[in-house]
Amino acid sequence: MTYTSSTVRVPDVAAVPRHIAIIMDGNGRWATQRRLPRVAGHTRGVDAVRAAVEACARAGVEYLTLFAFSSENWRRPNEEVSFLMRLFVTALEREVGKLHANGIRLRVVGDLSQFNDRIQDLIRRAETKTARNTRLTLTIAANYGGRWDIMQAAKKLAEQSAQQGHAAEVNEETFSQHLAMAYAPEPDLFIRTGGETRISNFLLWQLAYTEFYFTETFWPDFDAAALSDAIASYARRERRFGRTSAQLEPQSQDADSLPC
Ligand code: FPP
Repeated sequence: MTYTSSTVRVPDVAAVPRHIAIIMDGNGRWATQRRLPRVAGHTRGVDAVRAAVEACARAGVEYLTLFAFSSENWRRPNEEVSFLMRLFVTALEREVGKLHANGIRLRVVGDLSQFNDRIQDLIRRAETKTARNTRLTLTIAANYGGRWDIMQAAKKLAEQSAQQGHAAEVNEETFSQHLAMAYAPEPDLFIRTGGETRISNFLLWQLAYTEFYFTETFWPDFDAAALSDAIASYARRERRFGRTSAQLEPQSQDADSLPC
């Protein structure tokens, strides 16, 4: 599957979302409520990541994208940033074998040049090892920002224009081929845990027609049952992509009125 734009062509939809994108929020508050240091919430957050991956694979979700570290998260206290980096390294070292054994492909998107060599190397090796897996594609967005993504795609088109000596054709198709997640369909369902109701510079381009689901549940408490509730809410939505409700009804009337 490669990216196709919902504003160019209406995608097929099913009761189970093909692609779920999640902002995993509330780790700090989960820990503070328990009088634990904030970083304890991130540690528990990794357990919730594991649970979400397993539940998505079981439900038949094809793509799961998790916002692990935004381009703005560098603004956090140094100790918390360092802790998150160490957690990322440990998770890569410990979990990639299990992901691979379960047929899961791992991708990491974002401006990876800001990470140290060790992390970049672990990412490259994990992506290579799991590249041919097809059960579920797990994407970790790390040092990712939706605006960064749009800018880097625009830059690539500009570079292409300069190389070929004339302006590259710019349309949704040519542009979106340069987005970091050009290998995935647009998310069908966006989930944000932790009670906030904003996108926080996540997949700005790709969320154009995505269904949104916000829950008060803190990320460490977001388990298989919580995911199932989110999917059930999604299944009740009417995805019109700009059309009317009547147009979504079975084709009977139109078919009946066609000349034989
Ligand atoms: C938001 O909660 C969470 C993060 C910025 C980090 C998310 C990281 C993990 C779940 C663990 C690492 C993940 C992987 C894939 C290895 P917050 O700290 O903003 O919580 P708060 O809003 O309660 O303060």
